Amino acid sequence: MTIDRPLSLIAELTYRCPLRCPYCSNPLNYGDRQYRQELSTDDWLRVIQQASDLGVLQLGLTGGEPLLRKDLELLVAAAAKAELYTTLITAATLLTPERAIQLRDAGLDHVQISIQDSRAAESDYIAGTPCFEQKLEAARLVKALGFPLTLNFVLHRQNLDRIDEILELCEVLKADRVELANTQYYGWAYRNRTVLLPTRQQLERADAAVALARERNICPMGILYVLPDYYEDYPKPCMGGWGNQALVVAPNGDVLPCQAASSIPELEFANVRNHSLDWIWFESPAFNRFRGTEWMPEPCQSCDRRQLDFGGCRCQALLLTNNAAATDPVCHLSPDHHLITTVTKQANQENLDSPLPLVYRSMQM
Ligand code: SF4
Ligand code: FES
Repeated sequence: MTIDRPLSLIAELTYRCPLRCPYCSNPLNYGDRQYRQELSTDDWLRVIQQASDLGVLQLGLTGGEPLLRKDLELLVAAAAKAELYTTLITAATLLTPERAIQLRDAGLDHVQISIQDSRAAESDYIAGTPCFEQKLEAARLVKALGFPLTLNFVLHRQNLDRIDEILELCEVLKADRVELANTQYYGWAYRNRTVLLPTRQQLERADAAVALARERNICPMGILYVLPDYYEDYPKPCMGGWGNQALVVAPNGDVLPCQAASSIPELEFANVRNHSLDWIWFESPAFNRFRGTEWMPEPCQSCDRRQLDFGGCRCQALLLTNNAAATDPVCHLSPDHHLITTVTKQANQENLDSPLPLVYRSMQM
């Protein structure tokens, strides 16, 4: 099998974060000692150079909150020198004018800011801390400094009814690009699935609102709308396929094929402290475990779509079936598809006015 070179490196610089979003993509055990032993500046500089040598073109600097790393400007400068296109993926509450100017001078290409809702109280409720006004301020700062700005909204049952307002806010803040990502239910989001899973009616209204905003061309670089896979007939090609396009480096240096892969107990992940990115990408057992199509069970093995969706998401398969090698239950051909339909049926019967309490991201869990 030919292995392509990766396009993107997602650098999770730290799992520390001032926010407590109940759908955080960081692992449930993000507070463990292993993750508090973060890579040093020198480690990251080496990783950035190795990524460039490996053929990576894009670097996403994320977390947790990447602005908590005091060496962020140094890492951006190294990435710019290595000709990587750099995106800061931030909650933006720590983005001061001084810091933003330093990052621009270091060569940062693009800023993505997450906002939780169109209204202050609702946004702060999901973030678990007051921060809405700071985010708007940061978005204006990013635009004033001439960065391309992406606004990212994670969509769910509690904010989908304000999709029109969310799109209006994107227009007011002059976002160049908008990412509307329906929640993916692993990790923290899985814990909050009952509170976050939308109804079909909410999604239909959102589809219409997004179509209208696209027609009106409200942002020059477009609107990315990530559909909720629980309501699809086929699964998403998670990460563009396992070990196919991207690698994720966790704060402790473990290299993962996706942000949730540490949840798969059968896999051992190599670490940049001991191995080169090149070896990890091409040779490491974890990256080869679900690469390509040979590992697939039926019905994927004989399905025409196997090169399109790669059998779906391994982390979701594990979470729902206890087997990371199973067909993603989102697929209507999966023998486990009832695990999805039972939940969506229930979501469409429940009363929206009486949501259960959220489980916020916290170290106590
Ligand atoms: Fe994709 Fe497998 Fe479903 Fe076919 S059976 S559509 S390959 S998940
Ligand atoms: Fe891990 Fe989909 S999130 S494979």
